[in-house]
Amino acid sequence: MRRALLLILWGSTMLVGGISCDGAPGKPDEAERYQRPSAIMDFETLYGTRCSGCHGAEGRAGPARPLADPLYLELVNSKRVTLIVAEGIAGTTMPAFAKSLGGSLTEEQIDVLVEAMFSKWGDPKSKSIQSLPPYSEVDSQALGYSAGNPARGATAYGQFCGDCHGADGKGGVAGSVTDRSFLKLVSDQMLRTSVIAGRPDLGMPDWRMRSRERAMTPQEISDVVAWLAAQRPQVPRVDVADAAEGAIRGTRP
Ligand code: HEC
Ligand code: HEC
Repeated sequence: MRRALLLILWGSTMLVGGISCDGAPGKPDEAERYQRPSAIMDFETLYGTRCSGCHGAEGRAGPARPLADPLYLELVNSKRVTLIVAEGIAGTTMPAFAKSLGGSLTEEQIDVLVEAMFSKWGDPKSKSIQSLPPYSEVDSQALGYSAGNPARGATAYGQFCGDCHGADGKGGVAGSVTDRSFLKLVSDQMLRTSVIAGRPDLGMPDWRMRSRERAMTPQEISDVVAWLAAQRPQVPRVDVADAAEGAIRGTRP
């Protein structure tokens, strides 16, 4: 009711007052209008307005991976989440939220959001999972595992994934994981995260592959991701830095 009244007042001051509507009753204070979003420090509002559309209303069952998942939070850690939220993930629909990168959240808001995600959805008990595989391919290689190998990955795929996603990855009881437009939209890390943490909200098991003889090894995880990544259509693209250098050297128009 008050909101409606304010809207009407605002509309009429725009109509009547035009530019010189200073001091008109109900005139929105410009400073307040632009300050307000950055003053929000409440987790429910921040998560609900910035994340839930993709990561699901309660942090689950959205198109993008669940964040209300203690295993995932343990795998990724809060420093990394802060960085991901600030910088986004290039080449995917995960946006950069840091103001310095054109996003809509202040550093303080990102901190509030990430801290609350961990206190609300994390589980200190999950720290007992000793055998969590390395989060990234870089971490994995730093631990001495070799780079993911697509040929070995095909074998791991057959052993761990084919009965749900189809022998060739084109879908079975679960959807296709080799669909070209799917692979074009996601990063290798997204594939890796899915293999390690699963999609508990959708029935995809984590790397321990419940009901199987054994869990996947870190090497098998890297390999299966390399196999999936190898199915991604190779879009010819011009590297911007290369192009600029070429132009300087005169090797490119
Ligand atoms: C018990 C069945 C099952 C097994 C085994 C399984 N998945 Fe899944 N997977 C699912 C389901 C269910 C989903 C949810 C989406 C769907 O229905 O396709 C899913 C989703 C995915 C996704 C998309 C995740 C997302 O967030 O959209 C990827 C990638 C994936 N699986 C890869 C794999 C790989 C690689 C393996 C083997 C290491 C594997 N899956 C093993 C059932 C399974
Ligand atoms: C427009 C959709 C969209 C919005 C909005 C969005 N995300 Fe994402 N997010 C994604 C997608 C898609 C990915 C997976 C990107 C990839 O790596 O392929 C992702 C990835 C992530 C990851 C990394 C997952 C991993 O693999 O470790 C985190 C953490 C994350 N999002 C948190 C957030 C938070 C917190 C918010 C709100 C501030 C948010 N996202 C808003 C779509 C979105």
